[in-house]
Amino acid sequence: MKGAHPNRTELGDQAVSVRTVTRHFGSTAALDGVELSIAPGEFVALLGRSGSGKSTLLRLLAGLDSPTTGNVKVPRERMVVFQEPRLLPWKTAIQNVSLGLARDNPVEHARAALAEVGLEHRLHAYPATLSGGEAQRTALARALVRDPKLLLLDEPFAALDALTRIRMHRLIEALWVRHSPAVLLITHDVDEALLLADRALVLDKGRITAAIEVDLARPRELGQPGFLGLRKRLLSAIGVHDVVRPEEIPPTRTAPTENLPSIVSALRRQLA
Ligand SMILES: Nc1ncnc2c1ncn2[C@@H]1O[C@H](COP(=O)(O)OP(=O)(O)O)[C@@H](O)[C@H]1O
Ligand SMILES: [Mg+2]
Repeated sequence: MKGAHPNRTELGDQAVSVRTVTRHFGSTAALDGVELSIAPGEFVALLGRSGSGKSTLLRLLAGLDSPTTGNVKVPRERMVVFQEPRLLPWKTAIQNVSLGLARDNPVEHARAALAEVGLEHRLHAYPATLSGGEAQRTALARALVRDPKLLLLDEPFAALDALTRIRMHRLIEALWVRHSPAVLLITHDVDEALLLADRALVLDKGRITAAIEVDLARPRELGQPGFLGLRKRLLSAIGVHDVVRPEEIPPTRTAPTENLPSIVSALRRQLA
């Protein structure tokens, strides 16, 4: 029934609306009063140290989890791409993309989506024979072929080598321009956030502690005018100056000075 879905009727002109959301795991507040709106077609990057609640927020937006308190509204048409491609190993690339696709000619749409991500020549390849970048592009094709209004990306490039990452950045931007979904991209990479996003958010202990508008002309490149200034602001918002807090340094089992005599005598024995 058209318009009956609460997400459609209540979202208004937003693609995402998160209101005073908390998510507790036992005594841990993974999210602690999060407010977030994403406009249709807006590209938002989400940064923050490990354990700050990024994946918890993404899982709520994906509908894989529910908030403890508060309100999450998202479009029904949403897709997630994770760090690992999560392809079915016994299906080919095109079968993975077309699987469960509820539209006419699913195989033709899957073929077109794989062509869009540059995998026309790998349609019938099995996941085990795909490179990391190819597998991730297949996962992207599987998401895009469903025309999502919201694309959720949880560190999708983190496991890829540097050159493949750069190619993926260009691909993601081209696909975003063509399909214009709202995007939430979780990344640890400040440059990645500034190359791609309209807005960069920082999450710390379950709270959004910074929101930085990335008003750089597109297409973007590292070091273009304004880039370094934003980079500095974002790094300081993440707290890079104190990335290693004393409580995060693992205790050493033996103090180096205690070890020293045995190291010296071992060396002496070798030299003797
Ligand atoms: N299913 C879960 N059960 C218990 N604790 C969880 C669960 N998921 C996440 N947490 C905790 O919530 C906090 C935020 O985790 P997460 O959202 O995965 O962080 P991030 O993605 O920023 O690294 C962490 O303290 C984590 O241990
Ligand atoms: Mg995470």
